[in-house]
Amino acid sequence: MGGKPNASRFEYNATEGAPAPGAPLPPPAPAPVSLARMLSKLGYGTRKDAERLLAARRVATVGGTVLCDGDRAAHHDIRVDGEPLDPMPGSVVLLHKPVGYVCSTSDRPPLVYDLLPSRFPQRDPVMAPVGRLDADTSGLLLLTDDGALNHQLTSPRWHLPKCYEVTLAESLRGDEPARFAAGTLMLQGERTPLLPATLDVVDERRARLIIHEGRYHQVRRMFAAVGNHVTSLQRISFGPLTLGALPAGHWRVLTDDEVAGLRDAVRDAKAATR
Ligand code: URA
Repeated sequence: MGGKPNASRFEYNATEGAPAPGAPLPPPAPAPVSLARMLSKLGYGTRKDAERLLAARRVATVGGTVLCDGDRAAHHDIRVDGEPLDPMPGSVVLLHKPVGYVCSTSDRPPLVYDLLPSRFPQRDPVMAPVGRLDADTSGLLLLTDDGALNHQLTSPRWHLPKCYEVTLAESLRGDEPARFAAGTLMLQGERTPLLPATLDVVDERRARLIIHEGRYHQVRRMFAAVGNHVTSLQRISFGPLTLGALPAGHWRVLTDDEVAGLRDAVRDAKAATR
């Protein structure tokens, strides 16, 4: 994991201060989140399991103060068995998915969850992939437990650009960039043509393809439609985010600025569909 961590402060058992005399009444404060409830929602077990963790004095602050269920503490200041908590609710994680791993909680292993904290699939809400990459595809995969954001990022009504590095079995013929850009290419079994896509040729058998939608096995089927075959595929960007130098199999939590950039990109993509 690297980069500036998610900076928003998440406090458990926090309550609002009393309003100043004469001030209008504020809206009711959200119910405080107890530590056991928070741990259970983050996938550390049932509520009872989490209460047992606390009773066994395994939950403490960075400074070593043992925490009880009703204690007030900030997410970043809590340790379980000396380890930092998993990312706070609402986080977005960027994983460099290696070839061979499946984007599912229940398929035949290896699963992308094998590369992440074992609690991720048990979280409530679950830390879910944002769309899918095929088992044979590597690269940038986002996961989040923010269902609304996930929905926004994968909605078929607007699309963030995604860039793929493609290696091909056959040499490119030369007409592929124009065919992909035309907005008329039909994939087998589909009723509507693909949106225009941008193909930058790197050499005879390598190219970068930017697409704006997410149909099933889209990149592989696009090259099949022009008589070629993809031998290796890696997603290197998703909207404003790039894979960068993150090694295969590693992950990191997006910073607040990166999440804000994603939300801005969704807003722009929505505006462009109007
Ligand atoms: N296109 C594909 O063919 N596979 C992927 O995993 C993503 C896009």
